[in-house]
Amino acid sequence: MYELSPSMLSADFNILGEQLKLIEDNGCKWLHIDVMDGAFVPNISFGMPVIKSIRKQCNMFFDVHMMVEEPGRFVDDLKKCGADMVTVHVEACKHLHRTLQAIREAGMQAGVVLNPATPLDTIDHVMDMVDMVLLMTVNPGYGGQKYIPGMTDKIRALRKKLDDAGYPDVSIEVDGGVNAKTIDTVLDAGADILVMGSATFGGDIAQNVKDSLAKIKAKEAEVRGC
Ligand code: DX5
Ligand code: ZN
Repeated sequence: MYELSPSMLSADFNILGEQLKLIEDNGCKWLHIDVMDGAFVPNISFGMPVIKSIRKQCNMFFDVHMMVEEPGRFVDDLKKCGADMVTVHVEACKHLHRTLQAIREAGMQAGVVLNPATPLDTIDHVMDMVDMVLLMTVNPGYGGQKYIPGMTDKIRALRKKLDDAGYPDVSIEVDGGVNAKTIDTVLDAGADILVMGSATFGGDIAQNVKDSLAKIKAKEAEVRGC
């Protein structure tokens, strides 16, 4: 699919509406929304009231990353708030299959997330239930961390696994430390949805979005041309 999904976690919440309008006006189609509960990850971010509020003025696709224990509890609330896709961690769900099923039944797209240390074979029995697999390329909880280089092979292996299993249309999203220095690496390894938080909202936001989108769309053209 090839999209940039800027992580709102790195936005300036004093002027959140303005900044979201700026990224949308500069061509962003996706918004990555990090919900943290202070239990699954050592940080608390924001939840339903904020998502509901920004939905009023955004047309972007809401890609909601649930860093929450047992996220299945919030599926209906997320739908009501305007989420388009919900991604849940393998490590946070006792009943991953049921949770993914509930997300789709509620009328949203479903994604599964793996922490850096979690093996790829944990998704073996849910590949047919997801629209996207999100690979964490940092340990979740904070923006602005450094990309873990060992994750490049994991991205490559996941692309092969999905293709071999007959799911070439399942997207691979990468999250953590993606910036001007690492963007080519993750694109070349096979990622197609790129979360970029500090690299989008730090400095000149409009220029950052244009630069990242140019790289991502160039990769899409290259891959489609093959
Ligand atoms: C980290 C979050 C990320 C974070 C990424 O736990 O899931 O989405 O905002 O931030 P950057 O792009 O700055 O690494
Ligand atoms: Zn995230």
